[in-house]
Amino acid sequence: MSTELVLTLSAVALAFPFAKQRLALSLAKHPSLTGHSRMAKRVGSWLPGYAFDEERFFDCDDAPDAIAQERRKAFYGLAETLQTRHAKSIALTAQAREGIADLQFTGAYRVPFQFSPLVRQHLKVGAFIQSADGVCVTDLDGQRLYDLTGSYGVNVFGADFYKACMQEGASRVQAVGATLGAYHPCVADNVRKLKAISGLDEVSFHMSGTEAVMQAVRLARYHTGRKNLVRFCGAYHGWWEDVQPGPGNPMPPRETYTLRDMHERSLQVLRTRKDIACVLINPLQALHLNKSAPGDSSLVDSSRTASYDRQAYTEWLHKLRAVCTERGIVLIFDEVFLGFRLAHGGAQAYFGVQADMVTYGKTLGGGYPVGVVCGRADLMKRYREERPADICFARGTFNAHPHVMGAMSVFLEKLELPEYAHIYEGLDARWDARRAKFNATMQQHNLPLRAANMSSVWSLYYTEPSRYNWLLQFYLRAHGLALSWVGTGRLIFSLNYSDADFDAVLQRFVAACQDMRSGGWWANVPITNKSIRRSILKEMWNR
Ligand SMILES: Cc1ncc(COP(=O)(O)O)c(C=O)c1O
Repeated sequence: MSTELVLTLSAVALAFPFAKQRLALSLAKHPSLTGHSRMAKRVGSWLPGYAFDEERFFDCDDAPDAIAQERRKAFYGLAETLQTRHAKSIALTAQAREGIADLQFTGAYRVPFQFSPLVRQHLKVGAFIQSADGVCVTDLDGQRLYDLTGSYGVNVFGADFYKACMQEGASRVQAVGATLGAYHPCVADNVRKLKAISGLDEVSFHMSGTEAVMQAVRLARYHTGRKNLVRFCGAYHGWWEDVQPGPGNPMPPRETYTLRDMHERSLQVLRTRKDIACVLINPLQALHLNKSAPGDSSLVDSSRTASYDRQAYTEWLHKLRAVCTERGIVLIFDEVFLGFRLAHGGAQAYFGVQADMVTYGKTLGGGYPVGVVCGRADLMKRYREERPADICFARGTFNAHPHVMGAMSVFLEKLELPEYAHIYEGLDARWDARRAKFNATMQQHNLPLRAANMSSVWSLYYTEPSRYNWLLQFYLRAHGLALSWVGTGRLIFSLNYSDADFDAVLQRFVAACQDMRSGGWWANVPITNKSIRRSILKEMWNR
């Protein structure tokens, strides 16, 4: 915003208190499109689609003909390697794709849309596996791949750990089968342990992280009598309407304020507005502040960055805690992703901040789908003695399903065993050292790839401008590394990765990057990130 505009708006604001609040809110938004949900939605709906044909696909950065030829050869060579090696997995994927909407979506959004049709036609990725063990998955062709997907964050302790939780849990609850409504006794134990872990008074069980967040927000609204929620720019809290305003949600943003993360102006909004029920925190944002999850479909150039400053983020969370306490705003830690990954007590213990409510999910189900809300007793109550008809409704047929509860009880018991309790000792130092080794190795081999990490969650970024970085995920697959469909922006390691496993992964990274280099994708073409973005605008204009 220009200085003059700010001065004019400030003058208006002084005269009208409502305008002052509105201005404070506008100033507390992150200047990027991600910070402006309504605008982002509008721009998203204008964005014209186009795709590169065979010719332009290989020289969209105006590379010389010789390099484009190199790329063409490498592309079809890679396609053949993948096709031959994973033939059965790819065949079943092609057959099932038509009937699985999710597969069509993830297939289309693996890479920037300009490249998507040709990639889908030739660079096929199998979506099926036959088994998982250790730190690997095995596909239908018997190919073993190191698992860097982390099962969307569920897999904290390794594939075998969850198999054990599910198996032991099933035998524990076998006598009640799928009888719902009445609880298996293990539920009481789970509640006792979750209260201790969260430092909160009560627990409710749900079927997904999205549902847990919905319930936490609903309760915060009920008890504060205010309707707006605050989320921070780029943060994911599930796919429910109010926490996912902007692109991806057909409805316009309603009772959601998307504020700038780690910014004094956001604290000012919290200090002055009277309509805020709760603040949602997803601590994973510390790795890429004010940005959405870094998927390779938006990897159009090399401007992606990531970094993590634990101390600065801790200070920020303490400030948020103080302002929420002062204003009676419910502070909700959304630990669906990070709970049990950073510390036994989760992000609250790791950052030393006590929230009013915490949501957990993913790994806590011991392999089964789950969402959990822990909260202060006064916030968890769903009715009022003095107004019996004024209730806050929340039910769910499968909540506290015996099999989920059984696996969870094994999960929570295992966490107390010394072998798992020890995993958290020196955890950050271990993963920081691995990241340092990764970056030093890349530098040593003169490769333009670097990693940033928040403990065992990694994000990769690129140090030389290129339009083809998204291709790395396919070379990684060819070298036996499985990434999720979002690609190199999010690697999730399970904590059972040994040094030897990690070194094997690192070697494969080097080999895949060397293939990228020799395939001409990281060629010495005179471009910058800025010139790439200018070219894209031109392509849209001329399409
Ligand atoms: C922080 C956070 N909250 C909520 C959710 C939604 O959980 P689910 O996918 O189980 O609905 C996720 C999922 O990735 C998440 O990362």
